[in-house]
Amino acid sequence: MDDERLMERMETGIPGYDELLGGGFFKGSVNAVIGGSGTGKTAFGGEFIYNGVKEGKTGMIVLTSEEAEYIKREWYTSFGWDFWKLEEEGKVIFVDIADPSLRLQKTVEISPDELIKSFKKLLESKIKNVNPDLIFIDSLEAIFLAIESRYRLKSMVDDVFGVLRRAPATCIVTSGTIYGVDEIIAYSSDSITNLGMVRVGNNLQRSVHVVKHRGSATINQVRVLQLSDDGIAVLSQSPYLEF
Ligand SMILES: Nc1ncnc2c1ncn2[C@@H]1O[C@H](COP(=O)(O)OP(=O)(O)OP(=O)(O)O)[C@@H](O)[C@H]1O
Ligand SMILES: [Mg+2]
Repeated sequence: MDDERLMERMETGIPGYDELLGGGFFKGSVNAVIGGSGTGKTAFGGEFIYNGVKEGKTGMIVLTSEEAEYIKREWYTSFGWDFWKLEEEGKVIFVDIADPSLRLQKTVEISPDELIKSFKKLLESKIKNVNPDLIFIDSLEAIFLAIESRYRLKSMVDDVFGVLRRAPATCIVTSGTIYGVDEIIAYSSDSITNLGMVRVGNNLQRSVHVVKHRGSATINQVRVLQLSDDGIAVLSQSPYLEF
């Protein structure tokens, strides 16, 4: 075994989630969190970074379609997480690809292929400079949406995942369920967690289940994903029960 890291586990600290994963992620792995709009993907990744940072880890948050200031504000009003402070203390860095200083704007002048190449280079250099323990990329479909050929899409996703796998960090990447990009991202990932919204009678519940976790047993059950002032938690109950 040339990479011992991949045998060690890293608990996410998200209540109830490590149990679903059979004991947390493997260190250095790339894990996909997939779901439709509003299912809780961004909050999920935020909780992963916030918990890790509380335990002394360093986090890197890469935003492809929303501005860092906007997300920080949203997380503060939603869950009381003060990412301004964590950033000031050097525990978290935000990489916001809309930031003009990175010259990586998604404009019509830059081809999708060029954008992905620059994104890959940016990731490589930021990982080298920051050397984070945890990486959260939100969201990948925004970057890959414009690649029409499925074959090219798969090889480009694998290229970006290669950069992440060579890093010591444990990663969460999110994808929306738009134009099938999520399926390609899922195939390349070490684990897949699906988030959804379930309607039972007149009630809406967020759901979470683990579809795969390479190298590990998982709990094959759909559970409730709870969002509250305390952040994200996976409850032991099923969302399919009328109450
Ligand atoms: N304190 C809270 N208690 C309960 N729900 C909350 C709380 N704060 C925020 N929310 C809900 O969490 C949801 C945020 O979900 P999130 O942005 O993580 O979803 P997403 O899957 O990333 O969506 P998008 O497709 O927009 O990227 C919002 O719909 C909001 O109503
Ligand atoms: Mg989001």
